[in-house]
Amino acid sequence: MKIAAFVGSPHKNGNTARVVKQILTGAQSKGATTEIFYLYDYNIKPCLGCRYCEEKNVCKIVDDDVPLLHRAIRESNAIVLGTPTYYGDITGQFKQFVDRCYPFCKIVTDGKNKMEFYSIIPERKLGILVAVSGSMGPEVFDSHIKVAGHCFNDINAVFWRKILVPFTTWTPVTTSHAVMAEAFSSGVELVDAFNKHVSL
Ligand SMILES: Cc1cc2nc3c(=O)[nH]c(=O)nc-3n(C[C@H](O)[C@H](O)[C@H](O)COP(=O)(O)O)c2cc1C
Repeated sequence: MKIAAFVGSPHKNGNTARVVKQILTGAQSKGATTEIFYLYDYNIKPCLGCRYCEEKNVCKIVDDDVPLLHRAIRESNAIVLGTPTYYGDITGQFKQFVDRCYPFCKIVTDGKNKMEFYSIIPERKLGILVAVSGSMGPEVFDSHIKVAGHCFNDINAVFWRKILVPFTTWTPVTTSHAVMAEAFSSGVELVDAFNKHVSL
């Protein structure tokens, strides 16, 4: 089983990254192969809104690092998305990445006022969202969940689990045994869920 994780924080040892890494450690303990992409290390140009991909299902922008990230998505059985909260929402770099997942989306419309969104990726994946905040409570994660839901839909991932960690200003994730334990067991259970699905 292959898992690709995408971290939308500039901190490789910050709250988001630590939770994501703990999920991957749990998954590795069950034999999964994992790769982590720190989105701030990559050149991710903003979506041009040209809608070229709505017809062609590929992005017009080919001179940045997104093709590499797209390949990792295609080749993975599970995706972990992680983002902190900036100004009550996901970070800008994370949004930039999600917007560029639009080429995976297949739109079906009746030509009037109805649109449905599917994925061009045939194999079903499993998806986990990790979101952390500093001082705001869990209600701040509504938008993180909504955006991750759209992204998972477009890359054909079931929104399998979310780990939401508010109030890290006072309780960094490393001091929360419960959060780290939840992250590790989520990684373990992710592999179990994949194996169960595959053997069906
Ligand atoms: C520019 C900026 C904006 C932030 N805005 C919020 C916010 O609106 N609400 C909140 O609860 N925390 C906010 N935070 C705090 C971060 O979400 C928090 O420190 C988080 O743990 C950082 O995650 P990281 O360690 O993975 O980078 C903000 C931090 C920064 C740098």
